[in-house]
Amino acid sequence: MRPGVRLRPIGVVRSPFKDPSDLPPPAFAPPRFFERSTGEIEIRPEFEPGLEGLEGFSHIIVLFHFHRAGAAKLKVVPPGQSKPRGVFATRSPHRPNPLGLSVLRLLGRHGRVLEVSGLDLIDGTPVLDIKPYTSRDRKSHIRTGWLQRRRRRAG
Ligand SMILES: C[S@@+](CC[C@H](N)C(=O)[O-])C[C@H]1O[C@@H](n2cnc3c(N)ncnc32)[C@H](O)[C@@H]1O
Repeated sequence: MRPGVRLRPIGVVRSPFKDPSDLPPPAFAPPRFFERSTGEIEIRPEFEPGLEGLEGFSHIIVLFHFHRAGAAKLKVVPPGQSKPRGVFATRSPHRPNPLGLSVLRLLGRHGRVLEVSGLDLIDGTPVLDIKPYTSRDRKSHIRTGWLQRRRRRAG
């Protein structure tokens, strides 16, 4: 058997949301909900030198563990939908490897504490990595599969 991958959290999310049910699914969130959703990422002291230079970026990519996700599912019904979709075609937390990715606005850095907005994570979420969001991450002419079909019907 192959050995599993072991990851060490570099920090933790401090969020006003204490439970996954405290957050609305993005498609049903009130206007500007996530813009106003602020919190902190507290980096462990031993990793603080790795934050040097990050304060110059407006947005960061945060990779994290969905630590409260429960059992994985290969088919999930996205919020407001009736048709099941493959979990890898969704942003569901219920994944075989419960890893998530959020692009957050970096409001400021105070030592090893990052102040962020756009937060869609609950308090205590273990943070596995942080990367700067750059113009290379921005793609044009994208297709969004079943999400696109849903938007067209709604519009
Ligand atoms: C749809 S996921 C998207 C997260 C991320 N932007 C992504 O794409 O991977 C966001 C939902 O995950 C749930 N959630 C947030 N933090 C979690 C955690 N630590 N464990 C389990 N579920 C979490 C909340 O219900 C939230 O609405």
